[in-house]
Amino acid sequence: MRMMDLIYENEKFRTNNLNMIVSENVLSPKVKQALAIQHSRYHASFYGGTQLFQQIYEMTQSLVKKTFGCSSAIISPLSGNLSVIAVILALTKAKDKIAILPLSPAGGYPINIEFFNRIRMDIPFSHKEFNIDLPLMLEMLSKEKPRLVFLGSSLFLFPHPVQAIADVVHEYGGIVAYDGSHVLGLIAGGQFQDPLNEGADLLLGSTHKSFPGPQGGVILSNGFEDKNLEEVIGTDPLKGIVLVDNIHNSRVAALGVALEEFQEFGHQYAQQVIKNSKSLAYSLDSFNIPLYGKENGFTESHQVLMNIQDFTVGAKYRDLLMEYHIVTDAGMRFGTAELTLLGFYEKEMQKLGSLIGQILQQSFKSQLFKPIEAKKIKEEIEELINYMKEAEIRV
Ligand SMILES: Cc1ncc(COP(=O)(O)O)c(C=O)c1O
Repeated sequence: MRMMDLIYENEKFRTNNLNMIVSENVLSPKVKQALAIQHSRYHASFYGGTQLFQQIYEMTQSLVKKTFGCSSAIISPLSGNLSVIAVILALTKAKDKIAILPLSPAGGYPINIEFFNRIRMDIPFSHKEFNIDLPLMLEMLSKEKPRLVFLGSSLFLFPHPVQAIADVVHEYGGIVAYDGSHVLGLIAGGQFQDPLNEGADLLLGSTHKSFPGPQGGVILSNGFEDKNLEEVIGTDPLKGIVLVDNIHNSRVAALGVALEEFQEFGHQYAQQVIKNSKSLAYSLDSFNIPLYGKENGFTESHQVLMNIQDFTVGAKYRDLLMEYHIVTDAGMRFGTAELTLLGFYEKEMQKLGSLIGQILQQSFKSQLFKPIEAKKIKEEIEELINYMKEAEIRV
């Protein structure tokens, strides 16, 4: 098989399945076009032929500032992961304490803080509320005074108590960074929460999860000045650790297009994503699928989380759902961003929830992870796939 054949086959697979991966989204035709265009490789004024790209870069940067209401925007990170690393390297030194949510059960980003010779402090988490345990957190902050506090998570159902935490951290001179990788599209659409206005010093994250942009990262702030941060992220390798020397111009151009389009539909999209998550959650709950966040209405984000303790079992449910053309992960996280962009409303989400509910319920009963002979379920999923393919992309 030739490379292009495999690429087209993968594309066909992607467009013929219901993608519920929480960290993925679709790109609009124009964003894809911008990604595929060969821009100059460099953008520094040292190189000739970069004048027009300079304009593209500046326009993208202003669109980021406008969308997130911030005064400073670093748009060069190649991923959310690099944005996190840049913040750690620039704003802390060896032996500094960094507070971050633990991977399990809170879904904190699994960055190895110790590897950077920093001291890790686990942020206390309430399983029942599926949120930061604020009283315990405030106690920990007063006692330990971590230099840097990372809010945000990969299992992100409800807004974090940014203001209350920032007030304490600022009192002792610490820094609050909000990792909005998962919820960036919701924040851009004016939903979920507004971390910079609620006291976070930095809002950073990926541009390709709930925000429908190309893969990449941003670091945003409002009046938070730090020379180190600019230097660590780029673009002068003589200055020390530089994570990005020459930025990826196609990515910046595509991000600009995605942001420009987002001005038109972003607010309504973000609202619909949240409505769709709720619709999915209530539908799954009616089939007794165990979900996190029930006490608080299941979700306020693009995620619905099944309570699954063992990822090897999760992988079996994931593979079972795949047999029905429903794409999830081994953590049984259900995302609604991509399907919303592709035209799903509450009605379709409710239907999808009931189909997933029936499939999982059967599997719980039989203790088997094999597809059931259910012609009706398969037909109804096919109808949803056809609906998705025929619906207009929401841009
Ligand atoms: C909370 C959080 N931060 C950062 C990242 C890194 O994202 P990426 O490097 O894919 O942009 C992830 C990845 O899923 C994440 O969940």
